Amino acid sequence: MTLATPVSTDVATLNVDGATYELPIIEGTEGERAIDISRLRSSSGLITFDQGYANTGSTLSDITFINGEEGILRYRGYPIEVLAERSTFLETSYLVLHGELPTQEQLDAFTDRITRHSLIHEKIRRMYDAFPLDAHPMAVTSAVVGSLSAFYQDSLDPLDPEQVDISVFRLLAKLPTICAFAFKYAMGQPFNYPRNDLSYSENLLWMMFGVPTEEYRLSEANVRALDTLLILHADHEQNCSTSTMRMVGSSRANIYASAAAAIMALSGPLHGGANQAVLDMLEDIAAVEGSAKAFLEKTKDTNDTTRLMGFGHRVYKNFDPRATILKKHAHEVIEDLGYSPRLLEIALELEELALNDDYYVQRQLYPNVDFYSGIIYEALGVPENGSTPLFALGRMPGWIAHWREHHEEGGRLNRPRQIYTGETTRAYVPIEAR
Ligand code: CMC
Repeated sequence: MTLATPVSTDVATLNVDGATYELPIIEGTEGERAIDISRLRSSSGLITFDQGYANTGSTLSDITFINGEEGILRYRGYPIEVLAERSTFLETSYLVLHGELPTQEQLDAFTDRITRHSLIHEKIRRMYDAFPLDAHPMAVTSAVVGSLSAFYQDSLDPLDPEQVDISVFRLLAKLPTICAFAFKYAMGQPFNYPRNDLSYSENLLWMMFGVPTEEYRLSEANVRALDTLLILHADHEQNCSTSTMRMVGSSRANIYASAAAAIMALSGPLHGGANQAVLDMLEDIAAVEGSAKAFLEKTKDTNDTTRLMGFGHRVYKNFDPRATILKKHAHEVIEDLGYSPRLLEIALELEELALNDDYYVQRQLYPNVDFYSGIIYEALGVPENGSTPLFALGRMPGWIAHWREHHEEGGRLNRPRQIYTGETTRAYVPIEAR
């Protein structure tokens, strides 16, 4: 399937050096407009320049719509608030991947296939022993996901629909096991194998927290909180890790290789790693900094690189709807679990101070999804460095949907250009003469 380019009747006119170029305008279903410059270089020799891609549409996409000014996020047309309230992570994954909500029969078949692919090869299990005990679980998770391309060589062709289909189930099903094993390894506890009698999120909690010495009791509130977090993370259009997934996939690298790269892209503190960075920051304020107010002053100091982690977003300039949902859940989960509300109190104070501070107001900086997600994960008992792998787990359906969309639309190799600013031609000087 090739997504048809939605050309509008309007054109943009560009005048350079006395020549005039007409550039088509394209328009999405939500009225977003873009100037199509794909033929600009061949007609004029010019390229466009947009460092950080803040103003560049890299693809057409049917999957997720965001309106950053109005705080709107919809997967396949369904508002995130409705999905968080009424859906489950697996149902939302089906929606993100297939474009429609499943019938009961479709959901049962989808769930059954995911449940039955959750074991990992015993040789993969032994790979964990090679990692240092203090390895970050994102490093371990990415390495193990990358290794799936060595273990499942029957499903590496991105252009074969049957191979892609099986690899999608393998990724979605095995990632909870891979992440949970990474936590258990770091804790020095025995690995728990997946259980087919449990739902996706129940199984994940069991694999992370069950121990052989006592029965593991699942709390409904924990299961729902985890499932909601995963739903909120399921997709977010062309963010850094999703663009990485598409970029790597565009070379026709296999899906496991692409996903391993996306996981590494997510690990950075400006992206998914922010949920861990928020916890570090809150703990630092509690233990060292003393006051939220003093810390906030540091984040505004241009001579200091400290940032208020969990604040600001490239696209949302009013509020992040995921943060609004999570703020409510943070209260519920923390009350339900009897978790010490100390970090939540500091977070609330920081948020209140920042929202009323000229620096933050002028730059349109608001809490993003990571401001509250780390606290909820910690309340659930997830180790501090474990919240980013769970973000990866939630984002996997989105990554896969984008990777597939790229191939289904006959995607080209992604290859941006540049404006070279280095030395012009120089004569080579022999080493003894330098
Ligand atoms: N604390 C203090 N100042 C900030 C912050 C912050 N969190 N975020 C942006 N600014 C300032 C920045 O210094 C700049 O100021 P000035 O105009 O004086 O130079 C201005 O706001 C614009 O910032 P920017 O870095 O050009 O904006 P960006 O769109 O490139 O960056 C961001 C977006 C998310 C990387 C950034 O807001 C940030 O670093 N936030 C903290 C990290 C974070 O929470 N990341 C999670 C993002 S949401 C989930 C995800 O994507 O995974």
